[in-house]
Amino acid sequence: MTSRELRQKYLDFFIKKGHKVIPSAPLVPENDPTTLFTSSGMQPMVPYLLGQKHPEGTRLVNSQPCFRAQDIEDVGNNRHTTLFEMLGNWSLGDYFKKEQLPWIFEFLIKEVSIDPNKLYVSVFAGDEKYHLPKDTESVQIWKELFSQQNVGAKEVALDSLEYAAEVGMQGGRIFYYDQKKNWWSRTGSIEAMPTGEPGGPNSEMFYEFEEIKHDPKYGKYCHPNCDCGHFLEIGNSVFMEYKKIADGSLKKLPNKNVDFGGGLERLVAVSNKDADVFKIDLFWSIIEEIEKVTNKKYTDNRSSMQIITDHLKGATFLIINGVFPSNKLQGYILRRLLRRSAIKFYQLTGDLKFVEEITTICDRILEMYDWLFSINKNSLQTKEQLHQTIVEEMKKFGSSLVKGFKEIEKLSEVNGKNAFDLYQTYGFPIEVTEELLAEKGQKIDQEEFQVEFEKHKELSRTASTGMFKGGLVDQSEVAIKYHTATHLLHAALRQILGEHVTQKGSNITSERLRFDFSHPEKLTEEQSKQVENLVNQKIQENLTVTSEVMDKKEALKLGALGLFGAKYGDKVTVYTIGGNSHPERAERVEGFPFSIEICGGPHVKNTSQLGHLNITKEESAGSGVRRIYATLI
Ligand code: ALA
Repeated sequence: MTSRELRQKYLDFFIKKGHKVIPSAPLVPENDPTTLFTSSGMQPMVPYLLGQKHPEGTRLVNSQPCFRAQDIEDVGNNRHTTLFEMLGNWSLGDYFKKEQLPWIFEFLIKEVSIDPNKLYVSVFAGDEKYHLPKDTESVQIWKELFSQQNVGAKEVALDSLEYAAEVGMQGGRIFYYDQKKNWWSRTGSIEAMPTGEPGGPNSEMFYEFEEIKHDPKYGKYCHPNCDCGHFLEIGNSVFMEYKKIADGSLKKLPNKNVDFGGGLERLVAVSNKDADVFKIDLFWSIIEEIEKVTNKKYTDNRSSMQIITDHLKGATFLIINGVFPSNKLQGYILRRLLRRSAIKFYQLTGDLKFVEEITTICDRILEMYDWLFSINKNSLQTKEQLHQTIVEEMKKFGSSLVKGFKEIEKLSEVNGKNAFDLYQTYGFPIEVTEELLAEKGQKIDQEEFQVEFEKHKELSRTASTGMFKGGLVDQSEVAIKYHTATHLLHAALRQILGEHVTQKGSNITSERLRFDFSHPEKLTEEQSKQVENLVNQKIQENLTVTSEVMDKKEALKLGALGLFGAKYGDKVTVYTIGGNSHPERAERVEGFPFSIEICGGPHVKNTSQLGHLNITKEESAGSGVRRIYATLI
């Protein structure tokens, strides 16, 4: 089956069950300072899982591209990728376990034609400390589903990973694991959840690849959550009904929700009965290009080609989503992807000729995702800009790469310091150096190396870990203010500079907002002051912020601004600042409403909550695009 077919089957299946297809979100979240990337389908759904009404109703489905930076180092085997598509279906206080589990089981065995004898499931073992019961309800549902297929469905308590590796499967089909494995939130276990974060017990599904034998390196016995590759996780139903509160305990959410996520690429691999995910169409056409460019065969160079394939694909997606290579945050992750793939290319060919042909590989990637972004129309970056960014970055790194390789050859002993120097001088990410040295069989002073490595990781991880520190709720309150300020700024820029101004990008942290917009030249000091003054005037006018769900057509007729090229559903939420969005219902006053935008929210209720806006910087962000940084004080 092709990925296109499987994706469509999934969407159609859930449409038949009353779901609305919602568009996927950008890979770099715009108004969520808590995270670098969209790493699961539920991420853009958080406000709705917490209780906000979704314009498309209570049953939703989509396919969401996701990027997991934390998995970079796992790439290089038959199943790990940083970029993947997550098939997702959600119930927002609508159906629950007794619908979700039978539906997803039916989808897998009827639509994907999976042999139920090859399926194994896990369920939540309960937790005393948090007063959470064992999920016997899901067990009963699974038992019935398997027995209808004449498949034995014995339940076995495995609890921890350590215990599971000790005792093995014992002929079971349904396995209880503790909160470290069978609880899902964006930050992992219950303990790891910050205040405000939603989560819940989950039930995962695994496919058994009999041809992949258990490797005792991963533990004495195999079991569904063993990392050896014999079992492949293909789907996860989260029963999202809790959130963490300030005293560290869990509180029930207003609704019992379902959040399902299934890996499209893995499901296609399973339907093809081949444990190598890279053999599916979405990777294979890239590998064929890489074989051509390097004149080498995939079968002899699997790991290197898997890394190049995944990393170039990830890099292409990030650039199209507006990321540029840099030394911090998303930009640094992009840089690591490009450098690691450059090194793998160089190892395969011993020269830098690949740089000349790399754009052909990127074009293959774009062709496969024409349903997602039609380049030159819906993307933040054009195809030419994508080519230019990748080639420039590869060229810049190329000469240091060759020198760095020579340096590594010369080293008789490697310690933490010279490994770190390789990063500082030649730009070799530490994990790449470690990999290269391991290949040479060189001994590394692990302890010293580790100290440098941790220091380095700290640098590159600024975000992913630090970001959650303040807790979702505290962070969000500030972010919500910045989000409303962004709408005011957008409207003010259009009023002062003209209606050619459209939003090109937006990014919010708990310290500032950043707003990119189309405008041909630098703002004069006077223009910048006028914009700032107009926003502050609107803040002082105590304007109310209201939202309304309406048909997209109606919203556009009202002149609501939307992100150019963004994909919206048929129903959209429209946020209005200062005045009703329906002209016939409100008295029309000159200059009102001040702002109307299609937007998912959330926003403050009244502009007076924003305080005072300061434009701190104005600069270029590419040709014809300006960037403003502003703070609220
Ligand atoms: N949000 C769940 C996951 O990412 C479905 O596994």
